[in-house]
Amino acid sequence: MLESVTTAIPSKGALSGPDTFNDAEVSPEPPASVVIFGASGDLTARKLVPALYDLCRRGHLASESVIVGAARRDKGTDGFRQEMYEATKEHSDAFDEDHWVRFVDRLHYHRLEFDTPEHYRGLREELKRLEGERGLPGDRIHYMAAAPRFYVPIVEHLDEAGLAKPEDAERWCRVVFEKPFGYDLASAEELNEQVSRYLAEDQIYRIDHYLGKDTVQNIMAFRLGNGIFEPLFNRRYVDHVQITVAEDMGMESGRGGYYDESGALRDVVQNHLLQLLCLVAMEPPAVVGAREIRDEKVKVLSCIRAAGSIDEWAVRGQYGEGELEGDTAPGYRQEDRIPEDSRTETYVALRLQVENWRWAGVPFFLRTGKRLPAKRTQIAVVFKRPPTQYFRTVTCVGDVCSLSAPAANALVFDIQPNEGVHLFLSVKRPGMNMDAHQVDMSFRYDQAFHQKLPDAYERLLVDVMRGDQTLFARSDEIEKAWALVTPVLEHWQQTPPDFPNYPAGSWGPEAADRLFPPTAGWLNEEE
Ligand code: BG6
Repeated sequence: MLESVTTAIPSKGALSGPDTFNDAEVSPEPPASVVIFGASGDLTARKLVPALYDLCRRGHLASESVIVGAARRDKGTDGFRQEMYEATKEHSDAFDEDHWVRFVDRLHYHRLEFDTPEHYRGLREELKRLEGERGLPGDRIHYMAAAPRFYVPIVEHLDEAGLAKPEDAERWCRVVFEKPFGYDLASAEELNEQVSRYLAEDQIYRIDHYLGKDTVQNIMAFRLGNGIFEPLFNRRYVDHVQITVAEDMGMESGRGGYYDESGALRDVVQNHLLQLLCLVAMEPPAVVGAREIRDEKVKVLSCIRAAGSIDEWAVRGQYGEGELEGDTAPGYRQEDRIPEDSRTETYVALRLQVENWRWAGVPFFLRTGKRLPAKRTQIAVVFKRPPTQYFRTVTCVGDVCSLSAPAANALVFDIQPNEGVHLFLSVKRPGMNMDAHQVDMSFRYDQAFHQKLPDAYERLLVDVMRGDQTLFARSDEIEKAWALVTPVLEHWQQTPPDFPNYPAGSWGPEAADRLFPPTAGWLNEEE
């Protein structure tokens, strides 16, 4: 029997404006003190304070909340406010002076050398004073936006100063760690162990900003909210999965120093790409909760395998000089702060398998790279073709036409830009012949919702305030991901690369195409 279902589809006019995101009801999150360690850095200026300002503007940040920038430079609260004003103007979604005036009195600055214990005792006094003045209950977020080598010393000193635990059982204290969390498996295990001496796992929020993106959360909503797709997500129907995190950027904004120490495998594969893979491949959790979802992701990470020697399933690349959008682009080794003989990879492609009941035998192709032709993060689930190919697709170049099998069906998640989902189907081309043609049934966020998507950091900061760890990596998740990439890192360290091996503005080294069988390849179509 059909159940009667009432669906309220809001008309365009009924949708709320770009500021509110249609959240059923905006009420401020629990008020808290947020301390940002490394407040003079790029992340604070580009992401954290603009995100907090945008949350305030949209009514999510409680009016009592206080934000304390902690860093070495001696600039005072006025200096910090001025710097954050300039930064927020540049990086906020929708800056306006009136909202800034309402936000700015939450910002304070505390000068702090990361290794000086008295400075933490001073911070505690300062927090108590501000919390007393603003009527705050004493719930605290410590945000590690400093260089990772300071994580452990900061946590140790927080502990010494009585700041690593809540003041009493009614209150909470949460600590957010930016990536990279570790440098390889051994360092990640050590970091987890050292941090766990002072903090319980439920206090620890390891950021992977990809999980804060609405379109990434949509992978689960789409898979589990639509009865027609989930039954197809398995080895019987899926031919392969492709996950791409492509960037046209190179080493702009002074990132060369960090990047050359890191490389694409550590910078994007260990975290963002493997997280995307987990969301596509994981089993439906028993309930939608932080523990259950993270358990399912860990199960996926535990059964990722690769066939053959590392060189057969892992390809690395580094860009040389090339052309991007009509301009000459420098090679990686010519970029600012990059050694002329750098062996750091700026491109990685992997062919992996998730060897479990659902996915056995289905290849997952992952790739990421800098200075590729476009910025695009995309997941393509490519389905098997029908068992009999009755129809053909006609492709004509000038007067020369050729026949080929119709393209396979694909479900494509455009994570960014042009956020949305596409279903590629084969239909009859109009005319006297029975020719097949591929068409795109698509959904675009901007067309369906007429509003900007929130920045990932806004969502993640709200979740820290709420105490929801779903979108943060657990210690075992981090270690499993490092366990996968560490043998590749070690192998590459021992074998000298033949770099550069792809020109800037191309889709990467040719070897990455050879990861596929001859009948398939990367979906690279230009928009
Ligand atoms: C970061 C990496 O984690 O993600 C950067 O360190 C990369 O190198 C960035 O550019 C990509 O994020 P997004 O959100 O722009 O796709």
